[in-house]
Amino acid sequence: MAGMDVIDLRSDTVTVPDAAMRRAMAEAEVGDDVYGEDPTVARLEAELAEMAGTEAGLYFPSGTMSNQAALAAHTRRGVEVLAPEGAHVYEYELGAMSLLSGLTPRLLPAPRGVPDPQDLRAAVHRSVHQAPTGLVVLENTHNKAGGVVVPLERHDALVAAARAEGLPVHLDGARVFNAVVANGTDLERTVRGFDSVSVCLSKGLGAPVGSVLLGTRAFLDEAHRYRKAFGGGMRQAGVLAAAGLLAIREGPARLADDHRRARQLAQALAEVPGLGLDLDRVETNMIYLDVADAPGLVAALAERGVRANALSARAVRLVTHRGVGDDDVRTAARVITEVVERRAAA
Ligand SMILES: Cc1ncc(COP(=O)(O)O)c(C=O)c1O
Repeated sequence: MAGMDVIDLRSDTVTVPDAAMRRAMAEAEVGDDVYGEDPTVARLEAELAEMAGTEAGLYFPSGTMSNQAALAAHTRRGVEVLAPEGAHVYEYELGAMSLLSGLTPRLLPAPRGVPDPQDLRAAVHRSVHQAPTGLVVLENTHNKAGGVVVPLERHDALVAAARAEGLPVHLDGARVFNAVVANGTDLERTVRGFDSVSVCLSKGLGAPVGSVLLGTRAFLDEAHRYRKAFGGGMRQAGVLAAAGLLAIREGPARLADDHRRARQLAQALAEVPGLGLDLDRVETNMIYLDVADAPGLVAALAERGVRANALSARAVRLVTHRGVGDDDVRTAARVITEVVERRAAA
């Protein structure tokens, strides 16, 4: 294996900062952000809020903390949170809403990551015997549903349904810029109507660390308390925010390449016998494969220098990002095809 070039398709989080980003980090103007004195963090928060058309932003070390501080700030202990099936806040955040904030999650059926507004309204608890429903969480793009894009009119209808029930709505927009690019819209339109939005800078946008929570100033004042309580108060965080600024200024324009490459890889793999692949779900930078033995396939691919993620016994996820070029896509398609055919013949 020594010297073998590795094509890492596990996630868009594996990218490393490029030379321009490292230079911006080295030269960042900094201060103590716990005292609210880091000018680069303030610039990042203000610039993303401006792009989103929200009052303000708040910088976090991770998307998980940003989501969880938002959930805590919107609710109180004992409340139930509605989220689509497969939502990251439920599946991959270690039960943090229960662990940290005393919240109970409830999942709504969500074909392609999107619940039905009628189901949302029907799910709201009204009885004295039930935990009161206090928040709705949506996700765009929806990771576990395939990196699929939620149509904006569906969001509008879901936000309207939540409003009719008097519920606030949080958007887990870890990859919201992928949705923006795929929809051909802008960030302001894509997050319109939500009470809060968490945006990750460390995925396809290419920053090494960081997420920004967007919302009103009053809401973010509350989220700020939870950020500190959850251990997310950072000091001279401008060295990280400087990378985030480049990520939001230059990252979105590049995402269309990731989407095109994911599509090319998916098309090359769609005909391989033994690989379940729904081309219709390849809308952004993710491909999910349904296979008989996901961990076995991932281990065999790793031996050939292609890294993928086994997310369950049957699901393999492949993700394109700025570390994956056109040649890598061709090589990955050939290696995956060969490995799958060889395993089928064995
Ligand atoms: C949809 C979604 N939300 C939130 C997160 C959490 O981000 P982080 O890994 O920065 O905690 C992720 C991470 O992969 C994600 O895919």
